[in-house]
Amino acid sequence: MQHALKSSKRYRDKSWDFQKADTKQYTHCFHSYPAMMIPQVAGRIIDEFCKSKGLLFDPYCGTGTSLVEANIRGIDAIGTDINPLARLIAKVKTTIIPLKLLDSYLIDFNDFIFASRFNGIKLDFKIPHFENINYWFKKDTQRMLVIIKEYIEKIDDKDIQDFFKIAFSETIRESSLTRNGEFKLYRISEKQIEKFNPDVFSIMVRKLIRNRNGMAEYISLKNNDAKSHIYDFNTVYGIPKNVLLPESVDIVITSPPYGDSRTTVAYGQFSRLSNQWLGFEEYNEVDKRSMGGVKKGEFIRFDYVPLDKTLQKIAAKDDKRVYDVISFYTDYERSIANISRVVKEGGIVAYVVGNRRVKGIEIPNDEITREFFERNGFIHIKTIVREIPNKRMPKKNSPTNIVGITDTTMNCEYIVVLRKM
Ligand SMILES: C[S@@+](CC[C@H](N)C(=O)[O-])C[C@H]1O[C@@H](n2cnc3c(N)ncnc32)[C@H](O)[C@@H]1O
Repeated sequence: MQHALKSSKRYRDKSWDFQKADTKQYTHCFHSYPAMMIPQVAGRIIDEFCKSKGLLFDPYCGTGTSLVEANIRGIDAIGTDINPLARLIAKVKTTIIPLKLLDSYLIDFNDFIFASRFNGIKLDFKIPHFENINYWFKKDTQRMLVIIKEYIEKIDDKDIQDFFKIAFSETIRESSLTRNGEFKLYRISEKQIEKFNPDVFSIMVRKLIRNRNGMAEYISLKNNDAKSHIYDFNTVYGIPKNVLLPESVDIVITSPPYGDSRTTVAYGQFSRLSNQWLGFEEYNEVDKRSMGGVKKGEFIRFDYVPLDKTLQKIAAKDDKRVYDVISFYTDYERSIANISRVVKEGGIVAYVVGNRRVKGIEIPNDEITREFFERNGFIHIKTIVREIPNKRMPKKNSPTNIVGITDTTMNCEYIVVLRKM
């Protein structure tokens, strides 16, 4: 069912809700991440708008949902993300490993775990030195994690090693003292800590088996040579020509952050423990490098009334907080200008965005996205409004109040689709 909202090209369309869909098929089950795009949305956008094989670009690829969906359809894909953990997950999700080879490593790991349990935990382990490790992990957990880490470091095949690393990353999170179901790091209570003795080895084995089965499904589905390449450039500052030439992309599908990391979804904080255990040195930089991460001190006008008015309203309530929003949209506008240049004439961009409130004032992110692309030679095709039952998002950022939609606490997102002229 469709009902038009505000502008005639903006529709609430229930067929995009995918309420009962399994969002964890094939490699999509490999690792959770905040605000993931659901594969059904990426897949349907490709099916509706990408008629030729071409090239897909995701400038905020996170764990690579859109890249996986492009590749199974025979479309090559390029993704970039500033978070090393996200890049690693995206790489593993899009890299086929022959099952026979994978199974031989899994058997070896099982034997190793059996021997470690049988021989007892060795004592000459090298616990990594990072801030607060004892705050987030009990001593026994640290020992078991180190044993797995040392095993992974000795794996001679890079793709297999990365496959193990992402199972390890989820194991780290699950055996840490962080509260389940939160993206930010909050420690469980002292009482819970006393009783918390995770069987780290079993968690790791469970993740590996789940991911191995996901890989088997992916292999059976993907009968083509399409590939993904994942980078770490920041589109706010430009797009390297050796990666993407101007006018080379057929379709952009992405879900950008919908505000600065500090006050919306803290991707860096979510990934910090994994990034630290995996030895990614940029772990502290992720939220700073994220759009809006560096605060600008100037009150900028965007010459777009809905945005400028919103900023004025926020400034009237909080003259400091408004600079977070300005910093985010300054970066967002620059990034869109750079992305626009690499899209071919006739090419499509589909941005999946959420509207959020700052100081009780709604920011019309979907309209702003549309305006910024229109400034760069695009025409708006449509905006689909979908409910997001599957997406884990912080409730207090729950977005919007839309004419025609009665449930104001409902989480919605907007799929803004434009074509380059
Ligand atoms: C909503 S998430 C993307 C989720 C992804 N669609 C998925 O399904 O996993 C947004 C991503 O943008 C990344 N990000 C934030 N600012 C960025 C920037 N300036 N350049 C590249 N990536 C950025 C974050 O690290 C995060 O992974």
